[in-house]
Amino acid sequence: MTIQWFPGHMTKARRQIEEKLKLIDVVIELLDARVPLSSRNPMIDEILRNKPRLVVLNKSDMADPQTTAEWVAYFAEQGLDALPIDSSSGYQVKEIIPRCKKLMAAKIESQIRKGINPRAIRALIVGIPNVGKSTLINRLAGKKIAATGDKPGVTKAQQWVKVGTEMELLDTPGILWPKFEDQTVGLRLAATGAIKDEILHIDEVAFHVVRYLVEHYGDALRERYSLEALPDDVSEPDEVVKVMEAIGRRRGCVVSGGRIDLDKTSTLILRELRTNMLGRISMERPK
Ligand code: G4P
Repeated sequence: MTIQWFPGHMTKARRQIEEKLKLIDVVIELLDARVPLSSRNPMIDEILRNKPRLVVLNKSDMADPQTTAEWVAYFAEQGLDALPIDSSSGYQVKEIIPRCKKLMAAKIESQIRKGINPRAIRALIVGIPNVGKSTLINRLAGKKIAATGDKPGVTKAQQWVKVGTEMELLDTPGILWPKFEDQTVGLRLAATGAIKDEILHIDEVAFHVVRYLVEHYGDALRERYSLEALPDDVSEPDEVVKVMEAIGRRRGCVVSGGRIDLDKTSTLILRELRTNMLGRISMERPK
């Protein structure tokens, strides 16, 4: 899904989330485990203010487990509990309720002390398009509630969805915009498929991916495409292009005269990255 974000849309999306915040106890901030910061809204702290928040790293099935663990530590340092999950299979989704309860522990205890019976925790899922909000809502609800592809600005009656007896979830997620200003963010989101390929040049995205893979996942790259030595230094663009050409040659992406078809090679690399043919890869690491 592609959404054209204009300033008016951002203001409207923000206002819609702020309206929903009044109704809820806890925010579930959904990020892509492969690119947690790039899939994060730049104004999130300002929008959520002091609402208790659980960071959920979705699509962890596709991310490098070691890097995901580093991200969990990174968020912990910032005082945020981060939970890696996989909404498609349901992995760790059940852990969301106890984690939210933990965030609400002080409030729940004080209610009990006052003799008030604590009600179910009310939660809202927020995140950028394609991060898996609808998949997670459906998974938590145990049935199809959210149509994948909700559009920002489209209003419909909101309903609470019961998640067991201890949590209620708003059936429409809060849709946020990503950080566009930074070109690397755009390339990372495109690499994971969060941004449509037509928006950026495919060869530019693949170039970024190959350079990153040479630096961080050299063995996986060599093995997948039966490559010989990889360059030690990828600061020279030519060195990266040579690797792309070697991949293209291996895979028969050749046009007349034996020239390598870089567009075709780029499409192939991105398809294989996004379907985990190169293994579980994280495209971003904590600094
Ligand atoms: P959104 O509401 O935030 O826009 O995202 P949505 O749930 O529509 O999910 C976007 C895509 O991400 C979907 O794939 C969905 O299946 C996939 N997805 C969601 N969560 C996970 C996860 O934890 N792991 C993996 N591997 N994929 C996930 P799609 O190609 O658009 O549709 P389809 O493959 O479901 O047909």
